[in-house]
Amino acid sequence: MPETRADLLVEALPYIKNYRGSTLVIKYGGHAMVEEGLRDRFAQDVSLLRFVGINPVVVHGGGPQIDELLNRLKIDFRFVDGQRVTDEATMEVVEMVLCGRLGKDIVGRITRAGGQAVGLSGKDAGLIRAVRKRLPKAREENSPPEMIDIGLVGQPSSVNVGLLNHLTAGGFIPVIAPVGVDEAGVTYNINADTVASAVAVALSASKLILLTDVPGVLGDDGALIERLGESQMAELRRRGAISGGMLPKLDCCLSAIKGGCRGASIIDGRVPHALLLELFTDHGCGTEVVA
Ligand SMILES: Nc1ncnc2c1ncn2[C@@H]1O[C@H](COP(=O)(O)OP(=O)(O)OP(=O)(O)O)[C@@H](O)[C@H]1O
Ligand SMILES: [Mg+2]
Repeated sequence: MPETRADLLVEALPYIKNYRGSTLVIKYGGHAMVEEGLRDRFAQDVSLLRFVGINPVVVHGGGPQIDELLNRLKIDFRFVDGQRVTDEATMEVVEMVLCGRLGKDIVGRITRAGGQAVGLSGKDAGLIRAVRKRLPKAREENSPPEMIDIGLVGQPSSVNVGLLNHLTAGGFIPVIAPVGVDEAGVTYNINADTVASAVAVALSASKLILLTDVPGVLGDDGALIERLGESQMAELRRRGAISGGMLPKLDCCLSAIKGGCRGASIIDGRVPHALLLELFTDHGCGTEVVA
């Protein structure tokens, strides 16, 4: 443990050297975003990363905030395998909350903390091109797979890397809302973890960090799993220990690593300055997903 405040700064030195000049994709979950003070600390952390020569790219979620507006508007909603079933009325609300409210809130806070954030949705310069996603339905062995239509839910098909590189090279911090668009102009709701993973792969990011509202991946006994590989993940899934929003999150970590990202971690966004602790201290926190 560092003994003085100076020791703490010195502890950060090798990590800063290691990450300097590299790109980090940070997914800021809607569930980690609930408290005002924490949002400002997150904004400070992201600004600090930029000032020490690291390129942060933020992708944000907004599940609870979308639920809240849907409830106020008396629009019913449901999830299948952690993915929101999205009809046209729901899509309208999703886009309003993500692009109108939350994206601009994060941009405002980062800017107040000294960073130069720019809010984008997948529609800006075709940042996130998407195709409609269908979920395979679990069926008995040897029967043909059946697909479930969950509406206007998309899967990223391409990322406009040029736009992101242009912004980061100019010193800007992109803040991306997970809304995509297809060739015909149809708007899609995309799980923010999925967008973060696609962006991390497209940018060849050093690391993908997902901030959520749990300490990391928890086993059936409720204990934190510090390192999680593919086979243990499959086993936990089979036993039903992983559900809801953790399902797409783990898929995204794996696809980021398989796509060339050097690391993927799920950390507790409710811990003040979780991002700095994960990146710049010897202990890190949360769950590291490994291939
Ligand atoms: N084994 C597990 N360990 C930890 N969390 C789990 C597990 N299985 C399911 N979960 C759930 O996954 C949730 C995190 O995913 P969720 O989609 O709700 O949040 P998020 O992705 O951070 O936010 P948003 O979807 O708004 O961006 C946790 O709050 C927890 O309820
Ligand atoms: Mg989620």
